[in-house]
Amino acid sequence: MDSSETYWNDRALLEWQVELGATDAILDAPVDRYALEAAKPAPKAAAPDKPQNTPPPIPQAAEVDAVGSARTAAATASDLDALAAAMQAFEHCELKRGARSFVFSDGQPSARVMIIGEAPGREEDRAGRPFVGRAGQLLDRMLDAIKMGRNAEDAARAVYITNVLPWRPPSNRTPDASEIAMMLPFVERHIALANPDIVVLMGNTPCQALLGRTGITRMRGTWVEVLGKPCLPMFHPAYLLRNPAAKREAWADLLELNARLRD
Ligand code: URA
Repeated sequence: MDSSETYWNDRALLEWQVELGATDAILDAPVDRYALEAAKPAPKAAAPDKPQNTPPPIPQAAEVDAVGSARTAAATASDLDALAAAMQAFEHCELKRGARSFVFSDGQPSARVMIIGEAPGREEDRAGRPFVGRAGQLLDRMLDAIKMGRNAEDAARAVYITNVLPWRPPSNRTPDASEIAMMLPFVERHIALANPDIVVLMGNTPCQALLGRTGITRMRGTWVEVLGKPCLPMFHPAYLLRNPAAKREAWADLLELNARLRD
């Protein structure tokens, strides 16, 4: 076969292969394409879709443990001044923002009797002292009737007065359960630091806070215990202003208090 024949033979063979679907020129040595596939580097993990113009996640407001925070603050107060400062610095009670004054206490801290009311009203909020409005004036007259008072010269006849809440609730509404719960650690610490012989609870709110129940009409006049101290629930003087007939029971309770002080 001469060289031109070889050429035409080779060309015919190639055209026949192209017709059969060959697309690549074949090398002298065969290529194992399975081996090539296995040797390929593993494809990179697909990058997560990049958020485009997605705002950063909004941090969830940490759940505020107002009661726990009050407990810690109250426990660190080593005297009444420190307790007042800790309460004033307490930011979890919304009432603080609407009140004009912080109302802590009045009377003699070393008194044998500690009286606990509900919360400051309008007059107390203005004056920054508890029980100075009409109800407070009635309270002063009631105490005077048994020769006691916040300004009594004889320390044995003096009283110390405070409230469950140091800030006035708007429109004098009754404090709600969460407000009472978050201020309770301060009230308990207040009792512990003042260390009276007797605690008097005036009305339902301090009974709810310190005894966990209400029903002053049934509870009044019956001795119970608060933090290991004898405790007498009584009608609130504001209730007596609205219900003068109940002064009879209030008088009986005052005599009971007086008798206990003489024991
Ligand atoms: N009522 C209260 O309970 N406390 C006050 O200080 C005044 C009115």
